[in-house]
Amino acid sequence: MAKKTTLDFMDMKRKGEKITFLTAYDYPIASFAEKAGIDMLLVGDSLGMVVYGLPGTIPVTMDEMIIHSRAVRRGAPNTFVIGDMPFMSYQSSVEKAVENAGRFLKEAQMDAIKLEGGRRVINQIKAIVDAGIPVMGHIGLTPQSSGQLGGFKAQGRTAEAARELILDAIAIQEAGAFAILLEAIPPEVGEAITRRLSIPVLSIGAGIHCDGQLLINGDMLGLVEAFTPKFVKKYANLAEIITGAITEYVHDVRDLKFPEEKHTYKMKEGEAEKLAEFLKTIDSR
Ligand code: KIV
Repeated sequence: MAKKTTLDFMDMKRKGEKITFLTAYDYPIASFAEKAGIDMLLVGDSLGMVVYGLPGTIPVTMDEMIIHSRAVRRGAPNTFVIGDMPFMSYQSSVEKAVENAGRFLKEAQMDAIKLEGGRRVINQIKAIVDAGIPVMGHIGLTPQSSGQLGGFKAQGRTAEAARELILDAIAIQEAGAFAILLEAIPPEVGEAITRRLSIPVLSIGAGIHCDGQLLINGDMLGLVEAFTPKFVKKYANLAEIITGAITEYVHDVRDLKFPEEKHTYKMKEGEAEKLAEFLKTIDSR
């Protein structure tokens, strides 16, 4: 299937077709997701937690994001892939934001970038869009500012907080973003934003009314055991499957059940005898 574009996503919103969206950090998951027909992939800075076992996303660097983005691009050459701007790759200046956004396209062939924040990063969004780079906004629970938010907590639960989110969403659209992601907010607020914006509104924990849904692959595949957010549906328990398989392997090796003959290589015709002769000379020394 041909790779979708920002125009296709606009069209899907207009037609009421839901957009499917998943994180990927490596070649195998990216290739499975493309085979499964996913519409969009996000190389999220959540890789700090899912891949590197960090407590949050703050330490993740641009160089790490580029390495993982390249692997995902190789695994999903025909899928729209978005690179996630890590902490301090865009907050401190507009110039830095444009430069780092450009790295995702130049060095990892990403189709777009995502960054966290509403009106407070609006100059960065405008400048990146002006540089010709498609931008996805991200508001609600924004993990890079979880310290300021008092932890990984749902947002927009009061009318006042919801109002601020709606104003942020409108500002992001006006700045030229092609889409926006809402994280961990009540469905009423997700619906209010989705109805008022003409660009696609993606949800991770923002309810069924949004134009599409995102999940973190480690959560939905059951690879992350530490904590599962309320908005996650687990479609598999890979942690159990993988631990079971490795346990069986450990037992097989210890009990001499692995490798079996079918897992070994045969010497070429007549070569075993020659080797035996050679070993005799060595052993008689
Ligand atoms: O990094 C990521 O995967 C994200 C999601 C939590 C939305 O930004």
